[in-house]
Amino acid sequence: MCGIVGYTGAHEASPILLAGLRRLEYRGYDSSGIATISDSQMIVRKKSGRVRVLEEALVVEPAPGSCGISHTRWATHGPATDRNAHPHVGHGGTVAVVHNGVIENHSSLRKELEARGIVFKSQTDTEVIAHLIAVELGDGDDLLAAVEAILPRLEGTYGLAVVSPRCPGQVIGARLGSPLVLGLGEGEHLIASDPVAILPHTSRVAFLQDGEVVRVTPHDFEIRHRERGSITPRIDRIDWKPDAGELSGYDHYMQKEIHEQPDTVRDACRGRLRKAEGTAYFGGLNMSPRQLRGIRRVVFAACGTSWHAALVGEYLIERLARLPVEVEYASEFRYRNAPLDSRTLVFVLSQSGETADTLGALREATRQGHPTLAICNTVGSTIAREADGGIYLHAGHEVGVASTKAFSAQVAVLTMLALELGRLRHLSFPDGVAVVEALESVPDLIAEVLKTEPIIARAAEKLTHAQSALYLGRDIHFPVALEGALKLKEISYLHAEGYPTAEMKHGPIALIDKQTPCVFVAPKGSLHAKTLSNVEEVRARLGPIISVGTEGDESLMSLSDSFLPIPDVPEIIQPLLAVIPLQLLAYHVARLRGCDIDKPRNLAKSVTVE
Ligand code: G6P
Repeated sequence: MCGIVGYTGAHEASPILLAGLRRLEYRGYDSSGIATISDSQMIVRKKSGRVRVLEEALVVEPAPGSCGISHTRWATHGPATDRNAHPHVGHGGTVAVVHNGVIENHSSLRKELEARGIVFKSQTDTEVIAHLIAVELGDGDDLLAAVEAILPRLEGTYGLAVVSPRCPGQVIGARLGSPLVLGLGEGEHLIASDPVAILPHTSRVAFLQDGEVVRVTPHDFEIRHRERGSITPRIDRIDWKPDAGELSGYDHYMQKEIHEQPDTVRDACRGRLRKAEGTAYFGGLNMSPRQLRGIRRVVFAACGTSWHAALVGEYLIERLARLPVEVEYASEFRYRNAPLDSRTLVFVLSQSGETADTLGALREATRQGHPTLAICNTVGSTIAREADGGIYLHAGHEVGVASTKAFSAQVAVLTMLALELGRLRHLSFPDGVAVVEALESVPDLIAEVLKTEPIIARAAEKLTHAQSALYLGRDIHFPVALEGALKLKEISYLHAEGYPTAEMKHGPIALIDKQTPCVFVAPKGSLHAKTLSNVEEVRARLGPIISVGTEGDESLMSLSDSFLPIPDVPEIIQPLLAVIPLQLLAYHVARLRGCDIDKPRNLAKSVTVE
């Protein structure tokens, strides 16, 4: 989704800003732009399309200056055109603004400004902010005061960066509901919506909080909160593995991240499994065993892939801990006024920790007075900071828009959570040890599944020309089927639906014909015989069958056009293995269809608007 990078220091700003924007490309966007200040002049360049298009434009028409702001836009108000790209320039050319988030009262503000004779150049909600600041600044030169003065008029969410030729060397940032981080360098300061953009320059960062405004100059910064006045921020140090942003020989980040999953699961489990007690333990939950035992119900709220992981968690917790679990779409939960009693544990799951709907769900649960916990990958993210406690995934930076390794880390964490909750209740010691041992074996087993990539790539050929596909799974494999279908949709733009296997008969079976493949997630388990009957039903209607099954399963193999094997393992860890062929299947279908795998159309890595 939209990205912001700002710089002020001794170096030329535009190469630093462009490098920052390139690091944000993974988040999804459709246009980009830059504004720099040089000799009290403001230079603005913006282009629809990739950052490379902006870069080419800057070769012809450079943007000199050692202070500037830049942006990648993911269109919300108005299509992805040069005009709608940020930065937007305020009335009289005195300010340039880049903005993440949505201004909900933009229409009324626009009418008010138009009535004053201001002519709008774009269809965006952001342009009102630029004009409001410019009007407030008037002939003055206190940009921070002008920004602070107009912020109360904005309803909605924003992460902002503002520059003005009246204030060379200054960048103003502001945050309400959309992240902004300050990077502290030597003789230079940066601001960004995502630390990834600035970490090559500095690992010392300060995360802005909602309601804060910052003014940075090369040697100084000042943070103020709208109610609390001057703020001394906490300075965090972010560890950065230099190669985390590189492809390391893979063709795409998605492929790289799929192949990282043995390590992902290892890292998620590290230090958390207690074999001697047959359980798992999380340091960050901030809840005693007595409090955890007192829980009577668990509610998960999440979006997208994280929602699917939560659904796997539902099956796991119900099975191991016999606790009722509900999984909510975060976007629904936040406005649904769901009845929660005091013994309900509310968990939000988010890879990025910045998804607006998930953050909204967390805040709603907090508002109702419930202790909230988060399962999150991004250290220091808004959700991680606002939750009362939580579990980090330790999956490392995920670049691919289609989430893969974060899903595996989430499922590994949820398996451990189910184990811990189970062991606090009726789960026996030997059964607990069996889960610990099963989890310990997962990394090597994922590595085995990854070796079958050539088989999966051949199976992908069967899907490439389909119009649509059904993904079917029973019980704990139903969410895995949903996740497989989502992966295919996201990166190959093929229509795919996930269903509980037996539910197929109640409607989707009407779709089955020679052109509509069914992908069965059907490793051996308690319901295997029933699943085989469903496979037969599809076969009888000539639907092509791709199946993920237990190696050596002759019955399933003989019914399938393509058989994608996973090792024979206990059901409890099957989702962690079964999802791998589905991720690779989507990857290879997208590849065969020539899709832009790491930058799929219309999608954003972290969706920071409602
Ligand atoms: C977006 C991404 C998905 C992701 C979802 C939730 O829709 O495109 O890949 O699963 O957000 O993201 P989160 O960071 O909250 O897990």
